[in-house]
Amino acid sequence: MNQKMRLGIIGGGLMGREAASAFARWFVLEDFPVQVELVAVCDLQDKLLEWFKNVPTVKLLTKDHNELLKSPEVDVVYVAVPHNLHEKLYLDVLNAGKDLLAEKPFGIDLNAARTIRDAAKKSGRFVRCSSEFPFLPGAQRVFQAAQAGQFGKLLEIRSCLWHASDLDPAKPINWKRQNKFCGEIGVMGDLGMHVAHIPFRLGWNPKRVYAQLQKIYTERPDGKGGMAACDTWDNAMLHTDVMVGGMEVPMRLEMKRLAPGEMNTWSIEFLGTDGGVRYSTKEPKTLWTFQRGKEQIWQRTDLGYQMLFPTITGGIFEAGFPDCFLQMWAAYAAERAGALGNRMGCVTPDEAVRSHELFAAALEAHTKKTVVGL
Ligand SMILES: NC(=O)c1ccc[n+]([C@@H]2O[C@H](COP(=O)([O-])OP(=O)(O)OC[C@H]3O[C@@H](n4cnc5c(N)ncnc54)[C@H](O)[C@@H]3O)[C@@H](O)[C@H]2O)c1
Repeated sequence: MNQKMRLGIIGGGLMGREAASAFARWFVLEDFPVQVELVAVCDLQDKLLEWFKNVPTVKLLTKDHNELLKSPEVDVVYVAVPHNLHEKLYLDVLNAGKDLLAEKPFGIDLNAARTIRDAAKKSGRFVRCSSEFPFLPGAQRVFQAAQAGQFGKLLEIRSCLWHASDLDPAKPINWKRQNKFCGEIGVMGDLGMHVAHIPFRLGWNPKRVYAQLQKIYTERPDGKGGMAACDTWDNAMLHTDVMVGGMEVPMRLEMKRLAPGEMNTWSIEFLGTDGGVRYSTKEPKTLWTFQRGKEQIWQRTDLGYQMLFPTITGGIFEAGFPDCFLQMWAAYAAERAGALGNRMGCVTPDEAVRSHELFAAALEAHTKKTVVGL
């Protein structure tokens, strides 16, 4: 450990606390070139600021993000707030001369994403966007198989993130279910970066899209005895074409809040004439690989704890959400320190903008019931 990365968090809710837990376990990383320290936290809620008092390295707790940004002790800021605040807060971070790990979707819409990307470029600061599932061992194996090109002629690509808790009409409303906070792109803003990261990193950029968007429950309990409008898209299926090896290949991206039985199931599948690969967090230890030989064989491999950044955790143990989130942060820190090597890095601002271009085109495709070029 030879470099220290001092962190500030703006937004200490679900993800802000998840980040704090990743920093607190940083010492599990073996021979890692960067040390981290969480030094400052900003949130509007007293009970959350109170929670962060459990973190001994935190010196500044504030409700004013400008106070956090003024601190000379903060090098990097993680911002995990509702989408309507992304643009303003990300720009404030950059203007304060800090590096940024932005939460997805990197702005509430395409215009916001472009403004943030341009400001990031101009500032020269190190900016990446969050997407952690690709750092699971199974996801990495899928990525590596695609890089090695072991599929023959690629037949189809499928990448999905499915949730189920919204099937319950009694689930109370929150900001993620209201366009003014979540954005017109709805579930695509919530889950889309997670399904786009690996295909985009492989250079599989959609040429055109047809989209099926669904709103199922249009109101939900407001938590105060009444009902509130729930106006976001719940489910999105994006049918796209990408160029791979000079051929056009169908790529389907699925983002669903109403997927029966699926509790945060992230999955990815590439199928070709000679080989294929399939991984789902539903079976977190299992990698499926297809081989066409004399016989056609789907082979199941039990995965252990083979992480991109080695840790002290035993090689036969299982990896889960907090593990890939820590690995994502390790990728951020390593890339920032120039030590990423040939490993996969976090989503870049250009990739985040590309995802917004796709979601904006998907909105148009759905509205006009037509295919939209990109
Ligand atoms: N990477 C992932 O897997 C993942 C998962 C869930 C959410 N997210 C993203 O993380 C972000 C936050 O989502 P969440 O689930 O943590 O939401 P959350 O509602 O749990 O937390 C948001 C927090 O921001 C605080 N906040 C609001 N305005 C603020 C301000 N002006 N200054 C400081 N704090 C402020 C709120 O008090 C709240 O505690 C969103 O962009 C969301 O899309 C990412």
